[in-house]
This record gives sequence, structure tokens and C-alpha cells, in this order.
Amino acid sequence: MEDLICKDCGKEFKHKSYYNRHLNKTKPCTKNTKNKNNNQTNSGTEELTNDNIYNPPNLDYNHDNYDKLDHNDSIGNNELLNDNLFHDTLSENKTNNSNKLNVLDLFCGCGGMSQGLHDAGLNIIAGIDWWDKAINSYKKNHSHMGICADLTQFPPEKFQKEYNIKNEHIDIITGGPPCQGMSMAGKRDVKDPRNSLFMEYVKYINYFKPKAFIMENVIGILSMKNASNEKIIDIIMSYFNKEYNCVICKLYASDFEVPQNRRRVIIIGIRKDLNIKPVEPTKILSESERVPVKNILLPRKDIDKSYYLSEKALLGIKKKKEKALANNNGFGAQFLDLNKPSFTIPARYWKDGYDALVKYSETEIRRLTILELKRIQSFPDTYILDGSKKDQIMQIGNAVACRFAYHLGKYIMKILQ
Ligand SMILES: C[S@@+](CC[C@H](N)C(=O)[O-])C[C@H]1O[C@@H](n2cnc3c(N)ncnc32)[C@H](O)[C@@H]1O
Repeated sequence: MEDLICKDCGKEFKHKSYYNRHLNKTKPCTKNTKNKNNNQTNSGTEELTNDNIYNPPNLDYNHDNYDKLDHNDSIGNNELLNDNLFHDTLSENKTNNSNKLNVLDLFCGCGGMSQGLHDAGLNIIAGIDWWDKAINSYKKNHSHMGICADLTQFPPEKFQKEYNIKNEHIDIITGGPPCQGMSMAGKRDVKDPRNSLFMEYVKYINYFKPKAFIMENVIGILSMKNASNEKIIDIIMSYFNKEYNCVICKLYASDFEVPQNRRRVIIIGIRKDLNIKPVEPTKILSESERVPVKNILLPRKDIDKSYYLSEKALLGIKKKKEKALANNNGFGAQFLDLNKPSFTIPARYWKDGYDALVKYSETEIRRLTILELKRIQSFPDTYILDGSKKDQIMQIGNAVACRFAYHLGKYIMKILQ
């Protein structure tokens, strides 16, 4: 395993994202600063400079501290919300691993869920995903295993025998089996093979019998039917309900300190012999306290021209809007209300950005930068993403928002105590 030690101050890091963040920090290390940033990997952080690092609020998760957030009134005037290295200072991660609950993250993508659960104090053993770009990102930010494998060809027995060589107990299984097949935004094809990927998840649960599981998916899962007209959710729950007490929740990430609405289905299951009945996790913020997107936007002066829509695109939007109004239809381009959390960022954001645009005026409309998209999903600024811009945006759009996952992790830890 790679050594994560700062050459300047000698500080050791368990987690790659903390290490990268440390290398990027604004204040130099006290000793020998001349090598600072020499080792830094820049993939996916091209807009990041030492002057604009965003750190999520350094809350001690006592909600009273929320007021410490710097709610600026002007667009993109966020500078540093907090100079502390948020993910690095969480006391939860300084405890001994032997006391921690072990997690296996299936369909882990670039690691949004893993990052949040890790921040909450859980011990991630491995993440598995078949997309090489996402796994490359995962490995660049996490020091535990990132396994590139097709889960339909990678049964739990194989993971256990070939990868879990220390025979670590799996306490929690998490993951978001792909949802494109059942997303309301997609075609919801009943024959889409991606809809049966849930069974891979079930296989892992049946094999490891973890204390708990957390499954994330799109809202569409609740109404999706298979070719025999059965509700997918009923089929899934018929497996889970056998050995787990479950709760199905519809939650907004924005209620959990994420500057984005992102409504998702979260199914939490606790093994029946533990005699715990999970309930819906309590919201962290009230509606009026939700984090407005203006808090995380970059200053206008820092936005490259390439992010602005062309005259042709502006005209196209205008025409489509007129047509949609005449036909009484909705229209796809959405402009952010800067005083509210962002609209949901989907994986397809790379196509045109119409899901969430910043509008300064009728003629100045722009897409969000990768750094802003990361912030909207509450990834640390230093989180490294592999691949082309399209790949990176897809990974961000696929992810569970880190801060949301953090609160889910906290909830699970609390009820398993
Ligand atoms: C919704 S994303 C998961 C995002 C992740 N939970 C996060 O927080 O970043 C679903 C992931 O499933 C992966 N996937 C799809 N089919 C797969 C398969 N057969 N085997 C393994 N991974 C698969 C995709 O590559 C994608 O990264």
C-alpha cells in the first residue's frame, strides 16, 4: 500500500483524500515547505487552486453549530467557508479500527457513499464496481481495496476467497445497484438487465448476513414493474424481509446538509436477531435551513468562457420554451435559484448541463464546473476523479452525496450501538 506521509511535515494519513487535501491546504506546513505540492496528483482538480478550496462545514454534528456556516448573500462569494480540513479533523476516524464496523460497498462508483460512511467513522473494507474509471477514482481517494469487477460474474464466495484474505467480518453492506433501468427520467424498460442487478446485492447479503444494509436508489424503484407486472420493490422486499427488519425511506439529501435536493429511496435493514427496528433517519436541517447553492458556487470572475452557453444554445432554449408553453408542457432547461439547494445533478449532466444552469442574465447563462458539481454532491474539493470530463461528471452524478451518506452512517452506528 502506498505511503501517505507528507514530505514537509511528516504527518501520516490513513486516507488518500485527506492526504491530498493536506497537500492542497492553504497554510503551509511548519517544516520544510519547499517541496509542498510536489507530490500532488491533479487529475480531475484542474479548477482547484489553493485559494478556492471549499471545505464542508466543520460541524461537530451538533446541529447548533450549523450557524457557523458562512451564508454569503452574493453569488459565488464563498471563498473558504472554513479553513479547517473537515474530513481530516473528524474525531471518528482517529479511533482504533478494531472497534469499528466493517463495510462492503457494492456498485461503489467513484466512492461517494464510501467517503461519507468513512467520515462517519465506519471502516470500509472494499468497494466493487465494474467501471474502470470509477474504480480508478475510488482507488485514488481511498486506501482500502477498490475492485474492478462485474458483480454478475463476481459472487461473494470469490470476494471472500480471493480478496478478503484477512477474513474481515462484514458488518454492513451498502450500495446502489444501477438504477438507469428504473429511473423516472429514463425509459424504465422492464427487460433492462440492469433491473435484475438487485439480485447480486441480495446474494451478498445472503452470504455475509451483515448486521445491517443500506441500499440507495432512485424514487422510480418504488413504481417500477417487471415483465410479469410485479412491483420490483415488492420482489426486493420479499428477499430482505425474511431476515431483516426494514424501513423504506424517501429522503432529500438537502435535509442532510447537501446543497442539492436529490430525493432518493433509502432502504435500511437490520438483521432480525438484533431486535432493532430501523426508522426513518431524522432530518438534520429544517426546510429554511437547507444549504443554498450560492454557498458553493465559484466567483463569477473565475468561470471560464467555455462554460457559458453559445448564442445558438440560448436561442434553442428560448424556442423550446415558447413551444413548451404553447403546448402546456414542461421544458428541460432549469435555472438555479441561488437561495435554494441545487436541482438534482444526474449522470447525464455532461450532455448539456440543462438540469442545473446558472443564469446571470438572459444572455449570460452557464453550466456548472466540475468543482462546483463536486461541491453540490459534497465531495471534498480534493477528491480526485479519473477520466475525461464526461467520465468525471457521470461519476459525480451517479454518486450518493457524501454528506448524506455521512448522516446515514451516523444513524446506522447509533442504532447498532
Ligand atoms: C448509482 S452508481 C453507484 C454510485 C456510488 N454508490 C457512489 O456513491 O459513488 C451505480 C454503479 O454501478 C456500477 N455497475 C453497473 N453494473 C455493474 C455490474 N454489473 N457490476 C459492477 N458494477 C456495476 C456502475 O458502474 C455505477 O458506478
